[in-house]
Amino acid sequence: MKKKQLWFTLALAAALPLSAQQKPVYLDENRPIEERVEDALGRMTLAEKLHVIHAQSKFSSGGVPRLGIPELWTDDGPHGVRPEVLWDEWEQAGWTNDSCVAFPALTCLAATWNPDMSLLYGQSVGEEARFREKDVLLGPGVNIYRTPLNGRNFEYMGEDPYLSSRMVVPYVQGVQQNGVAVCVKHFALNNHEVNRHNTNVIVDDRALYEIYLPAFKAAVQEGKAWTIMGGYNLYQNQHCCQNERLLQDILKGEWGFDGAVVSDWGGVHNTEQAIAHGVDLEFGSWTDGLANGVSNAYDNYYLANPYLELIQAGKVGTRELDDKVRRVLRLIFRTAMNTRKPFGSMCSPEHYDAARRIGEEGIVLLKNEGGLLPIRLDEVKKVAVVGENAVKMMTVGGGSSSLKVQREVSPLDGIRARLKGKAEVTYVRGYVGDVGGEYNGVVTGQDLKDDRTPDELIAEAVQVAKEADLVIFVGGLNKSAGQDCEDSDRASLSLPYGQDRVIEALAEANPRLVVVNISGNAVAMPWVDRVPAIVQGWFLGSEAGNALASVLTGDVSPSGRLPFTFPVRLEDVPAHSLGEYTGERRRDTVDIRYNEGIFVGYRWADKQKKVKPLFAFGHGLTYTTFEYGKPTVDRKTLTVDGTVTVRVKVKNTGSREGQEVVQLYVSDLKSSLPRPVKELKAFRKVRLAPGEEQEVSFTLGRDALSFFDADRHEWVAEPGKFEAIVAASAADVKGKVAFELK
Ligand code: GLC
Repeated sequence: MKKKQLWFTLALAAALPLSAQQKPVYLDENRPIEERVEDALGRMTLAEKLHVIHAQSKFSSGGVPRLGIPELWTDDGPHGVRPEVLWDEWEQAGWTNDSCVAFPALTCLAATWNPDMSLLYGQSVGEEARFREKDVLLGPGVNIYRTPLNGRNFEYMGEDPYLSSRMVVPYVQGVQQNGVAVCVKHFALNNHEVNRHNTNVIVDDRALYEIYLPAFKAAVQEGKAWTIMGGYNLYQNQHCCQNERLLQDILKGEWGFDGAVVSDWGGVHNTEQAIAHGVDLEFGSWTDGLANGVSNAYDNYYLANPYLELIQAGKVGTRELDDKVRRVLRLIFRTAMNTRKPFGSMCSPEHYDAARRIGEEGIVLLKNEGGLLPIRLDEVKKVAVVGENAVKMMTVGGGSSSLKVQREVSPLDGIRARLKGKAEVTYVRGYVGDVGGEYNGVVTGQDLKDDRTPDELIAEAVQVAKEADLVIFVGGLNKSAGQDCEDSDRASLSLPYGQDRVIEALAEANPRLVVVNISGNAVAMPWVDRVPAIVQGWFLGSEAGNALASVLTGDVSPSGRLPFTFPVRLEDVPAHSLGEYTGERRRDTVDIRYNEGIFVGYRWADKQKKVKPLFAFGHGLTYTTFEYGKPTVDRKTLTVDGTVTVRVKVKNTGSREGQEVVQLYVSDLKSSLPRPVKELKAFRKVRLAPGEEQEVSFTLGRDALSFFDADRHEWVAEPGKFEAIVAASAADVKGKVAFELK
C-alpha cells in the first residue's frame, strides 16, 4: 500500500467514532468478565465510583451514564415481584401493568421437600422479575426457624440447615437463569422481628456454623448467588450490614463470594464500618431519600459524600472503594448489561400452573382419622365452610413480601369451583379477625367488616355445621401486624381471634370436621384430639383455593412434610425454655443469647424424653400407606475420604398413588462433643403407584458425618460408630443400620 494511502487509512480509523472502532473491553461480552471489570473501573472517576455503590431511589442504584453503564433496579420479594413504587416511597406508584402471580410462601416450598419444585419456583418468579426489567430480586430468605413467634418465618425455609440448603440452591439457579440476581437474606441470625434493628445476637461458633450459616453457604458456593443481603440485627456488636466477621472473614474470605453485599433498607449505620467491613451497595438509609432536608439525601448516604470527604481528607484510601465497585460492576455485567438474558414472562398460564403445583406439593396433611379425607364426592352433598381465612386475601400485607396480584383464588372459591354440581357449599364467617385490606397503597377491595359478636358468629356456624355432611374450618394466621408479618412477632403460640372456641363448638356440632390452618408458623392446637382431620395449608398465593381443593378432594395426594416442628406449648421450644428470645436491653442494643446452641427444632425435641412435639419435623400423611424394607449399607466400615451407600426399599401398600419423602438422618453414637441424637443428611421424594416398590439409595461422605469443632475452626469427622436412620419424619423411624468410620 502506497505511503499516502496508508496515512489516509490511519487517519480514517482515528476519526471513526468509538462505536465503529474495536469495542472498549468493558462493553465486549466476549471478553472475560474480570477484564471488563478492570477496564470499566479504570475509566471511572472517583465521583462515578461513589455513585454506583449506593441507592439513587427507593429500589435503584446509580449507573455510569457517561460510559453507558446502566443503573441497577432491585425489587422485592421472595414470593413474587412487588409493584412499582414512587421514586422515593414505599407506596405503590399505581401503575397498571405490574400485577403479578403470587407463588406460595417459602415455608410451603420447603414443605414440598422437592428440589425440582424449587427450580420451577425460581425459574417462574425469575421470569416475572425479568419481564419487569428487574436486575435483582430481593429474596429468597433462609433464616432458620428458631421460634414459632417470628413474624417472618413464612418467608423462610424452616428449622433445618440441610433442608434449607437443598431447597435454596435450585431457587437461586432458577432465578439467575433469567439474568436476574437473587439477594439471599438476611445474612445472618435474623431469627425474629422484635427489636430487629438493635437485637445483638450472641451465639457460639458451633451453632453459627452448623445451624445458621449452611443455607447461605450453599446459596453462595453451590447456587452461585450474585448478591446477599445483610440483616438488620447485630452480631458481636456490629450490625450485620457492616459486620467484619460475617461479610469479610466468612462470606468473602472463607466462602470466596465474588458478588455484591446489599444492605437491608436502612441497615448501614456508620461510614467507617461500611467502608471497611464489606457492604457493597447501600440501600434505604433514609426511608424516603429526599426527606432529610437536603437537595438529595442519597448523596448523604454513608457511602456517598461522607465517604468522599474521608478520601479527600486522606483519612481512607480507595482500595475498599475499588473492591466495592468491582463487585457492583460484576453484578451489572451479569444482569443489566447481560444482552444474552431471556425476556421473561408474566402472569402466564405456566406461572399459575407452577404456583398451583408447588402449593399442592407443599400442603401437609397433619391428621386424617378415619380417612375423613379425601372428600368423598359421591357421598358428601352438603359442605359447610367456616372461617375468615376461607375468604381473606393473603397476598396483600405481611411487609416487604406483599404483592399486587392479577388474581388470588380464595380457599372458598377453590372449594366451590371443585365441588360445583357435586355438593352444596355454604359459607359462614365463624370469627372476625383482621378486616384490613391495604398495604403500601395496594388494596384488596374486600369488605370484611362484620359487627356481630363472637357468640352470634359461633351460633350461626354451629347451626350450619349441624346440617352439613362435612365441615371445613379455614382459619389460622394472616399478614397483619402481630401475625405472620414483618417487623413484629406473634404474642403467643395460640390461634388469634377466639378461633379455638369456634373449632371446639364445631367439633361438638359435627364430628366430620376438617381444620385447615393457613399460616407460615406453628400454632397451638388444644382441640387436636377432637378434630379428625387437620391440614397445614400455608400461604399459597394466587392459586391458593385451587391447590387446597385439589388436595382436599384427592385430585392430588398430599405429599408435603413439615419443615419445622409443631410444639405443643411455647415452653417446649428451646429458644423460650433455654432462651433467650426477647433478651435483655443493654444501652442501645438488646442482647439475645442463643443458649440452646445447636439444639434447635427436632434436635431439641429428640433430647426431651418426656416432651413430644404436637407434630414432628418431616411429618406429613398421604392418602395411601408405605412400607419400608430394612436399610442396608454397602460397607460396614469406611475411611474418612470414603463413602457409604445406604439402600432402602419403599413400597406403596395402599390403593392410591402417593409420594413419600424418605428421610435419612445420621447419628454419631460416640463423639467428643455433644451432638444431636440425629441430624438430617439426605432425603428423596419418590412417587409410587399402588403396589409399586422402589429402592432408594443415599451416598454419604465425610460431610454427612462431621461436626464443626469451634476450637479447631474446622469440620471434623471423628472415627467411631455411626447409625444411618431411615425415617418418614423425625419422630417416625423406619429402620437403622450401623457403620463405622475408621
Ligand atoms: C425490608 C426487609 C427486606 C426487604 C427490604 C426492601 O425492610 O427487611 O427483606 O427486601 O426492606 O423492601
